[in-house]
Amino acid sequence: MPSANEPRNTQKPGGWGTIASSDVSRRTFNPIRDVLSRPVQPLATPKSTKEPISLSIGDPTVFGNFKTHPVVVEAVEEAVRSFSFNGYPPSVGVPQAREAVANKYSHPLAPLTANDVVMASGCSGAVEMAISVLCNEGQNILLPRPGFCLYNTVAGSRNVEARLYNLLAEKNWEVDIEHMESLIDENTAAILINNPSNPCGSNFTKAHLKAILAVCERRRIPLISDEIYADMVFSGQVFTPTATLTSTVPVLTLGGLAKQWLVPGWRIGWILINDRNNAFAQVRQGLFALSTLINGPCAPIQAAIPKIFAEIPDSYLPTLNMQLESHARILENELGKAWGLDVITPQGAMYVMVKLNLNMFADISDDADFCHKLKWEENVEILPGECFAYPGTVRLVITPPRDKLRTAASRIAAFCERHRK
Ligand SMILES: Cc1ncc(COP(=O)(O)O)c(C=O)c1O
Repeated sequence: MPSANEPRNTQKPGGWGTIASSDVSRRTFNPIRDVLSRPVQPLATPKSTKEPISLSIGDPTVFGNFKTHPVVVEAVEEAVRSFSFNGYPPSVGVPQAREAVANKYSHPLAPLTANDVVMASGCSGAVEMAISVLCNEGQNILLPRPGFCLYNTVAGSRNVEARLYNLLAEKNWEVDIEHMESLIDENTAAILINNPSNPCGSNFTKAHLKAILAVCERRRIPLISDEIYADMVFSGQVFTPTATLTSTVPVLTLGGLAKQWLVPGWRIGWILINDRNNAFAQVRQGLFALSTLINGPCAPIQAAIPKIFAEIPDSYLPTLNMQLESHARILENELGKAWGLDVITPQGAMYVMVKLNLNMFADISDDADFCHKLKWEENVEILPGECFAYPGTVRLVITPPRDKLRTAASRIAAFCERHRK
């Protein structure tokens, strides 16, 4: 991809030369995709010939061990066979899908109707629409550090300044509220939180969510709450939808089918407009307008949502959460014994964050170096904290099968031992 400084136009009379790409495209940079597409630079140490194990991408379907429920597949099959969803859907979404999403997420303290739901192309599409509808060029948005890098990618692409507020590892990744508030100025258009969190695997308490909402209330800043991992929490944890804790702060809640229903490739997400006081009247119209850019996401999959929500057994989610927790504990236990690593206990979602004690290693300069050498020497792929604006850490995905997790963990432990000071 050309950098911002690369020449714009090399066209010469009589020839095509190179057509300049736009400023928006040049500003669009996704660090995860960048790290994963980099060739592994050869090192002096022997290259591993072991079977590759990837714990890098948050896609639970990669190894085939996590499959969605048959009802989910049947629901799509029925929608396709009905021949009723082959045309363009309304751009804000298929009415039955909006209705089903509203019913599922409506709460006495944060009631929703179908009109409060905008369907999106994945939760990524919801992130893009939410940032685009609230922020103008030159304004700023408050984002978590460490945080999911797409937020920075979208903000950067639109010339919106990303201001990163700190999450505190020692406090289960709670927001440093004072730091968050210190970043706000007259150009702050929105605060974004992500709960449960990628990459932290954390789940905020009610009291903490209320403290964040209090900042929004005091400074009159709307909130975007990315809840793509809603309800995906481990034993002893309670997930609370942020919007149910306020009757005043306008909140755009983002969600989707990708994670809980194990179908990230289906690309269906949504925005819930939580607006008890009509503060979002223009924003609502703005979201409707933005939805016309792509005429809405894939209609048959939207149309499957009512059956998916109605017929998936009650046991589905607790079973999935139990499995995910057992996977997380394998990594936590195995890596907890490794030299130089501090594993931060996850409370939900699909990730484990590990702090690297770099001063305990002889020849590892930073998190990127750790991941590079690990890939070369052990053929295990994990993501450096650099992808989440949080150097000195690495993120591991917990969804691969247990035997693969054990093998990956023992290779990482051997790697740490080999490089210990
Ligand atoms: C926190 C967070 N938000 C949004 C997304 C995007 O979800 P989708 O795959 O539905 O676009 C992801 C995907 O990994 C995520 O982790």
